[in-house]
Amino acid sequence: MESNTASSDEQSYQVRKLEITDKNKGFMELLQQLTVCDPVTDEEFQERFEELKSYGDDHVICVIEDMNLSKIVATGSVFVEKKFIRNCGKVGHIEDVVVDSSARGMQQGKKVVGFLADHARLTDCYKVIFDCSDDYKAFYEKCGFKQKEIQMV
Ligand SMILES: CC(C)(COP(=O)(O)OP(=O)(O)OC[C@H]1O[C@@H](n2cnc3c(N)ncnc32)[C@H](O)[C@@H]1OP(=O)(O)O)[C@@H](O)C(=O)NCCC(=O)NCCS
Repeated sequence: MESNTASSDEQSYQVRKLEITDKNKGFMELLQQLTVCDPVTDEEFQERFEELKSYGDDHVICVIEDMNLSKIVATGSVFVEKKFIRNCGKVGHIEDVVVDSSARGMQQGKKVVGFLADHARLTDCYKVIFDCSDDYKAFYEKCGFKQKEIQMV
């Protein structure tokens, strides 16, 4: 699954994997809406990008680009953990889902989670999990997930 295009707003938004040029399309600024995310140099970005790329299907970052603005408006990542249990099974961990404040409520978050969950399924993960606060429980339920365990920190 390299990319797919939204159906209802086909001409405006593209759902795809992160590309190195996305740093210039507001990718880091978008992450700042999620948590502390200091600016990084182009070299630092490239180094981390190449490192993550070397993991292939085991680490995927999804973005949605507003094609009219050449701006990244949504992102999320999935990390595939390899286990011994469950016949050397794999678990997908969804992380860092955020939608630009100007684009919320337009199903973009749902598309990102769908892309990541599809990737986990296609790479044979037996389950897909994520951590979130109670505030976002309803969002993930709308994305088809169910609460199962509590998390200890
Ligand atoms: C959470 C977030 C990613 C949702 O993105 P979004 O694009 O606005 O969400 P969507 O439009 O795809 O919403 C999908 C469904 O979930 C619902 N939903 C979204 N956020 C919700 C919330 N906080 N509480 C309850 N329901 C919510 C929507 O109403 C929609 O329902 P529908 O399918 O019946 O229309 C976005 O609000 C965000 O980036 N928040 C700040 C970053 C953050 O804290 N991320 C952590 C997420 S665990």
